[in-house]
Amino acid sequence: MDQVRLHVNIDHVATVRQARRESEPDPIAWALACEAAGADGITCHLRFDRRHIQDEDVRRLRAAVTTPLNLELALAPEMVSIALESGAELFCLVPENRQEVTTEGGLDVRKELERVREVSAALAERGGIVSAFIDPDLDAVEASALAGCRYIELHTGSYANAKAETREAELDRLRSACELAHSLGLGVNAGHGLDLTNVTPVARLPHLEELNIGFAIVSEALTVGVDTAVRTMKAVISQANS
Ligand code: PXP
Repeated sequence: MDQVRLHVNIDHVATVRQARRESEPDPIAWALACEAAGADGITCHLRFDRRHIQDEDVRRLRAAVTTPLNLELALAPEMVSIALESGAELFCLVPENRQEVTTEGGLDVRKELERVREVSAALAERGGIVSAFIDPDLDAVEASALAGCRYIELHTGSYANAKAETREAELDRLRSACELAHSLGLGVNAGHGLDLTNVTPVARLPHLEELNIGFAIVSEALTVGVDTAVRTMKAVISQANS
C-alpha cells in the first residue's frame, strides 16, 4: 500500500495568535517545525472574516514553506484573486458560511457547477492542482469530475462524529466515494475531524493519497510539542498503510 501523505493544517496556530492580536505563536515558524517533523505539506484556509490566517501569512508561508502549500478557499471573487496570486501549488475549494465554527459540510458542486469549473480552470491555468471538498456522496464525486477538478477531498466529519453503531456505514460511504472518484480519474484526499484515535480506517481507504489534519495536531502539540505531535500522527498513518 502506498504511503498516504500527511498535510498539516496550521489555521489554529493563527487562531491562538489572533486571540491576542500578537505576533506569537507564529504559524509560519510552526509550519516549518511541521515540515522538519516530516509533514508532507502545509494547508491553510484564508477565511472572509480573517479569524485565523491573515493575507500576510499566506505570503510568508509561500516564501518559507518547502513542501507543497495547499490553500483552501471559497469560490468568491476576492478569494479566487488572492489564490491566483498566492503561488500555492494546491487549492481546495470549500464552502464558507460566516456563522460556522469550522467548515461544516462539503461544497455543493452540482449547484455551483459552472463556478467550480471556472475557478478550477483559472487555478489550473496557473499550474495549480485543484480539489473540491465534498461530502462522501456519489453525486458530488461525479459533479467534481464534471467541473474539471483533478482531486476531491472527502469531508470525514460525519465519520469522525458518528456513534459506534453508524461508523462502519460512514466508512462505507467514504469507500464508495473513493472507488467512484478513482474510476472517474480523480485523485482522492480526505480530512476533517481526524485524530490519533480515528485516523487508521481512513488512512486505509482505497486510492487515498493525502490527509489534511489540523485541529487534533495543534491541540496535541500543546501537550507534547509540535515535533512529537506530527511524528506520532505520521507513524499512525504509516502503521495503517503497512
Ligand atoms: N480539510 C478541510 C477542507 C478543512 O476545511 C479542514 C478544517 O479547516 C480540514 C481538512 C482539517 O480539519 P481538522 O482541523 O478538523 O483536522
